[in-house]
Amino acid sequence: MGESLCIEKTVNSEDCALTLKSGDLEVLSTPTVLAWMEEASANLARKFLTLDESTVGVHVELDHLAPAFVGDKVKIESVLKERGTKKFVFDITAKSGEKMLAKAKHVRVIVNRKRFAK
Ligand SMILES: CC(C)(COP(=O)(O)OP(=O)(O)OC[C@H]1O[C@@H](n2cnc3c(N)ncnc32)[C@H](O)[C@@H]1OP(=O)(O)O)[C@@H](O)C(=O)NCCC(=O)NCCS
Repeated sequence: MGESLCIEKTVNSEDCALTLKSGDLEVLSTPTVLAWMEEASANLARKFLTLDESTVGVHVELDHLAPAFVGDKVKIESVLKERGTKKFVFDITAKSGEKMLAKAKHVRVIVNRKRFAK
């Protein structure tokens, strides 16, 4: 374990709570942070899959600790903590510079692409 993957994003207005209606302020929304965390984790999981496999999110525990604003750069790092027969467990952080924005634990399960998407 311990494999990791980072992605970097810049906060745009469409990433904010006001636009997503998850709040009414122009700040990075919690759903967007989660989507970015899932993107990093799904990309990391893909390294261990066959072409006919994918992963789907089944569980998340997320602490949103500090706000970010339009124009801020955000680095999301997902670390693979555990691997079962069908599941991956990730610890994820989102930071803007040294500021910790959010932390999460996330579980993804391996599914067959064709069978799952029917
Ligand atoms: C993914 C899904 C098919 C799994 O169902 P399943 O095949 O019955 O799963 P299982 O019970 O066999 O569990 C597989 C593994 O995942 C783990 N797991 C499943 N759901 C979990 C959850 N909510 N939290 C933590 N672990 C979970 C199980 O403990 C098991 O671990 P193991 O490999 O160590 O034994 C089902 O939960 C589902 O369809 N969920 C919706 C997912 C989705 O649509 N996500 C949005 C798209 S990304």
